[in-house]
Amino acid sequence: MKGVILAGGLGTRLQPLTKITNKHLLPVYSAPMIYYPIRALVEAGIEDIMIVCGGNHAGEFLRLLGNGAEFGLKHLNYTYQQNEGGIAEALGLCEHFVDQDKVVVFLGDNIIESSIAEAVKEFEQQASGARILLKEVADPRDYGVVRFGNSGEIIEIIEKPEAPPSNYAVVGIYMYDNTVFDIIDTLVPSGRGELEITDVNNAYLKRGDLRYTVLNGWWADAGGSIDAYYETIVRVAERERGGNPA
Ligand code: DAU
Repeated sequence: MKGVILAGGLGTRLQPLTKITNKHLLPVYSAPMIYYPIRALVEAGIEDIMIVCGGNHAGEFLRLLGNGAEFGLKHLNYTYQQNEGGIAEALGLCEHFVDQDKVVVFLGDNIIESSIAEAVKEFEQQASGARILLKEVADPRDYGVVRFGNSGEIIEIIEKPEAPPSNYAVVGIYMYDNTVFDIIDTLVPSGRGELEITDVNNAYLKRGDLRYTVLNGWWADAGGSIDAYYETIVRVAERERGGNPA
């Protein structure tokens, strides 16, 4: 199983914090943001990791992370996304790295409380297709949102809907077999000019090969807004302080 962490994009929603550094290098309590997805992948047993950098200050990733010794890794792979063409475009850059393997994709600004080891194990046992993680949230309008059928099956995923069909958001952690790259080849840019990961997930759904796991513990999209960034720091601080408020 390979791991890919997406750390491209310009982080415009966190301006001016991202004016002189990359969003994923910003501090989240005691560590830079990108440390958390790396730790989560390593904890789930994934040690062959590619980091997709992008935007400004990409060289700083190498300076910060090196070969990943701090995470117990012998090596880290890096690539660079030239434009901000979307999450699916960034993943497309990893085709040779993933090769015939399966892949867990982690958005570099997503931070979670609990382990994903169990979901990764379930995906390992899955013969083909994709597995996504869902989380119930109060207001899912900023995310991919799931519409369920009568027996709890997903029938559609809608990106940032004004009228969400459920409160289940799609977490920025995706598990794919290597046919994901054939799907990415067929995508066309959305209204916001990006190759959308939601289109990838809907393509698997159409094939009848998309499963899901509901994530345990809290989930934070730290780069979503300045408020989300602040709330993430508070949550991480509480966890690290053993439940005591910062
Ligand atoms: O956080 C979960 C949400 O992430 C999902 O629910 C949505 O379905 C999904 O589209 C995505 O929404 P966002 O609009 O929040 O994604 P954002 O543009 O913030 O990008 C998320 C991460 O992906 C970010 O940390 C950097 C990386 N990225 C993004 C773009 C647009 C890249 O590496 N390259 C890119 O071109």
